[in-house]
Amino acid sequence: MSKFEQTYRVHQRHGQEHIFADWDELSPEQREELLADCARIDFDWLAQRRKELRDGPTAMPAGMIEPAPVVSLPQTEAERGQWNAARDAGEELLRRGKIAAFLVAGGQGTRLGFQGPKGCFPVGPVSGRTLFQWHAEQILARSRRHGVSIPLYIMTSRENDRGTRAFFEEKSFFGLNPSDVFFFQQEMVPCLDLNGKLLLSSPSTVAMNPNGHGGSLSGLRTSGAIRDMRGRGVEFISYFQVDNPLVTICDPVFIGRHVQSGSEMSCKVLEKNSPSERIGVACVMNGKPAVIEYMDLDEAARQAREADGRLKFRAGSIAIHVLNVDFVDRVAAGGVLPWHQSRKKVPYFTGNRLIKPETENAVKFETFVFDALPQAEKSLNLEVAREQEFAPLKNARGVDSVQSCRELLSRRFRRWLSGAGVPPPVSGRPGSAGAPEPVVEISPLYSLDAGELARKVKPGGFQLERFLLLG
Ligand code: UD1
Repeated sequence: MSKFEQTYRVHQRHGQEHIFADWDELSPEQREELLADCARIDFDWLAQRRKELRDGPTAMPAGMIEPAPVVSLPQTEAERGQWNAARDAGEELLRRGKIAAFLVAGGQGTRLGFQGPKGCFPVGPVSGRTLFQWHAEQILARSRRHGVSIPLYIMTSRENDRGTRAFFEEKSFFGLNPSDVFFFQQEMVPCLDLNGKLLLSSPSTVAMNPNGHGGSLSGLRTSGAIRDMRGRGVEFISYFQVDNPLVTICDPVFIGRHVQSGSEMSCKVLEKNSPSERIGVACVMNGKPAVIEYMDLDEAARQAREADGRLKFRAGSIAIHVLNVDFVDRVAAGGVLPWHQSRKKVPYFTGNRLIKPETENAVKFETFVFDALPQAEKSLNLEVAREQEFAPLKNARGVDSVQSCRELLSRRFRRWLSGAGVPPPVSGRPGSAGAPEPVVEISPLYSLDAGELARKVKPGGFQLERFLLLG
């Protein structure tokens, strides 16, 4: 039996032979390509997903969730002392080379509508510095501060792997040592139409999507990244997303708190600004730590308030974590995380043309990294200041847009300058009352934090104008 016949039969057995409808019109190369894609499909996995699709998405179990315990921002002297002790502990671990940075950048970034890897998006409010540059410069600055070379692991996916690697090479790794930057590709899984059928994204390719950032755990293992970390003596992973230029990568306080609390996986959280804010919520589910994604939290829980008027489920997870290397290895070895479904408009090829649907026609399946939380012996939620740590870039316009992200960056740097004693613009100049605020950008290589800026800038040493770029 030919390879084609064998493959066809397997697909027929699973009700998926329709993808070979145009087989006779394919070139030999296209046939090879399609057969290679088909060989990647795990039909047991597919059968499970089709069953879940028929059953419908699992509703959130009512009455089984409680708000998560959160370590709040320090208010008292004693609490400030604890944060300082945590910072010291985190800095010590950084100096000893125990920490790696891990960037998940395999997403498709469809909402932003940017061609190319999202990390190549020019987010810098003055210079147009890209997201990748922000992150890389921050790691370089932190490495210099602690006298180590912090390794950076980057997860890409099929669509953006080549573009991401090429960008880093073209930019000379933004000053990082290339031998300390480790790329790996996450796996792809097929998406299905609403009747559970495979789709073609071209005459010779099956429509697939990256397996979600939950795929980072198995990816770290199968790619050899965990082995590489162990070889370097790394014990803790500072996990972050590509879309938040305000993230503090390898934050010593967060690392220190994580280690001191004996946590295996920790989350940074902040108070949700409204019931509808599209961020996951840290909670306790069936007695275990968990994050519930915004679309999975039912309406009653989303709207529920405490007696003081604050949201009951207000601990918004901003997808910044510290994970123990041993924990990642254990979870990755133990199998997969649950699969979440989301309905999408997925272009598909049929009858010799590509159809771009107007409405949602398909379901994407993804795993989420925070679904590892219930497997942690212990976990920690650490509160952070929103204006200091969170400027998500999700959309081209509106909420969490390019404009809001740039403004949040600029605002943080204006605050740092004001703390360093730089006076606001004089009246009548840009930035003074009624005039637009100055647009400020400070490279992490110039100042990693407000304290470093205050040491570098002389109070009254210069006058803030319409634009300021430092570093
Ligand atoms: C995410 C979180 C949400 C959190 C918010 C904070 C999920 C499901 N939700 O929402 O709880 O409050 O960020 O901004 O993640 N990625 C991959 N591979 C994939 C999919 C995504 O590497 O297969 C990466 C992306 O490149 C990005 C990050 O994961 O760096 C977030 O992905 P995205 O799908 O945009 O998450 P959000 O829905 O915005």
